Amino acid sequence: MCMFKSLVFTVAVSFIVFQSVLSEKNPLCNGQNCDKFFENYLNEYNINVSNNTIKAQYKKQFLANLREIRNFNAKEVNAFKKGINKFSHLSYNGVVSQSLGLDSISTPILGIITSKPAASKCSIDSFDWRNEGAITAVKDQGSCGSCFAFAAIGAIESQISINYNKNISLSEQYAMECIYNFWKIGGDACNGGQPSYVYYLSYINRGFPTEKSVPYHAYDDGICPLNVSFVKEAGITSYRTFTGYRDNEIACLLAANGPLSVAIFVNSSLIQYSGGIYDDEESCGPNPTPNHAVLLIGFGVDSNNNISYFTLKNSWGTSWGEQGFFRMKKGINLCNINSLPQQPYM
Ligand SMILES: *[C@@H]1O[C@H](CO)[C@@H](O)[C@H](O)[C@H]1NC(C)=O
Ligand SMILES: *[C@@H]1O[C@H](CO)[C@@H](O)[C@H](O)[C@H]1NC(C)=O
Ligand SMILES: *[C@@H]1O[C@H](CO)[C@@H](O)[C@H](O)[C@H]1NC(C)=O
Ligand SMILES: *[C@@H]1O[C@H](CO)[C@@H](O)[C@H](O)[C@H]1NC(C)=O
Ligand SMILES: *[C@@H]1O[C@H](CO)[C@@H](O)[C@H](O)[C@H]1NC(C)=O
Ligand SMILES: *[C@@H]1O[C@H](CO)[C@@H](O)[C@H](O)[C@H]1NC(C)=O
Repeated sequence: MCMFKSLVFTVAVSFIVFQSVLSEKNPLCNGQNCDKFFENYLNEYNINVSNNTIKAQYKKQFLANLREIRNFNAKEVNAFKKGINKFSHLSYNGVVSQSLGLDSISTPILGIITSKPAASKCSIDSFDWRNEGAITAVKDQGSCGSCFAFAAIGAIESQISINYNKNISLSEQYAMECIYNFWKIGGDACNGGQPSYVYYLSYINRGFPTEKSVPYHAYDDGICPLNVSFVKEAGITSYRTFTGYRDNEIACLLAANGPLSVAIFVNSSLIQYSGGIYDDEESCGPNPTPNHAVLLIGFGVDSNNNISYFTLKNSWGTSWGEQGFFRMKKGINLCNINSLPQQPYM
């Protein structure tokens, strides 16, 4: 009882001390009052929180993340920077539970063609499908574990650009609803799935609905809309899974044929990434189990530090990373990027 009281007292005193530190100008908060700094953050990222208990939790987490970001950037040992982004008020587990969505437990459908193609060698140092006008706009999966739909649809949209010279945005909502609620291929809509299920859907439907016809709302309605029309160009004829390929071979396949969806493990340092080349080997290896799917769109070598990197398109909106994209050190299977590279064909 006594111990409990003194604990309450200590907590209360440290809370008051903590509060008064926060209400002063604080270097942690760019010399501003931290309350104000946090309010500005909520406004900037349109984070709407009316419950004060939750708001206090967010603030606590935000300040802890902020401290980690500042400490990391001051060390300057890595080739990337961390920064405040739309996840900064959340814990690692909070982000994992709502903004990833690769279901590693369910089995991928390995391909309509699964044979290993001829050796993928090339002597290209850098390549970026954005330079070919083949990368559609970055999208945002929101609070829904639908990364698998965004990664695979990104790859199909790129194939449409490459093969037909057209930009057509396709429906992730249709993908996640119909895979789960109608075709029962696997996964569980906002609770995750596999990119291969989307390729399979495009293959069997010989097309795909547009984003406009079935708009995304980050929520599983439990219904697959059956009265929509399919864009014929969005029907793939095959896709391949490149298991056992190394970073350099995957880069060559990318340059030769188009973007690939890949599975990666996302640790907290990648969530906090704000730019540069992600090279956090301590947090991302060896061979961690993937929890996220993204689109591999390019590769290159940074002339400042001679680090080879992959360029990837994420589905966390344009405010995250490098306008929605990120770069990761290439050549070391970082975050297990080699575990599930898949490429659709038309
Ligand atoms: C914020 O949330 C409250 C309560 O849930 C709601 O009434 C309000 O419309 C929301 N505002 C915005 C901008 O979403
Ligand atoms: C605020 O959130 C807490 C924690 O989730 C919950 O226990 C409480 O009932 C909520 N309060 C209101 C007014 O909704
Ligand atoms: C498609 O979009 C990309 C990127 O926005 C652009 O570079 C390209 O020119 C567009 N292609 C067509 C055919 O409109
Ligand atoms: C499809 O059907 C639903 C309900 O049956 C309807 O709300 C929707 O407008 C229809 N969409 C099209 C494109 O006809
Ligand atoms: C995530 O990163 C932390 C900090 O570097 C590390 O301790 C942990 O092992 C990493 N998790 C995995 C699954 O690699
Ligand atoms: C850059 O890295 C490559 C491969 O690791 C190496 O062969 C080359 O000598 C390096 N160049 C410079 C200028 O350090």
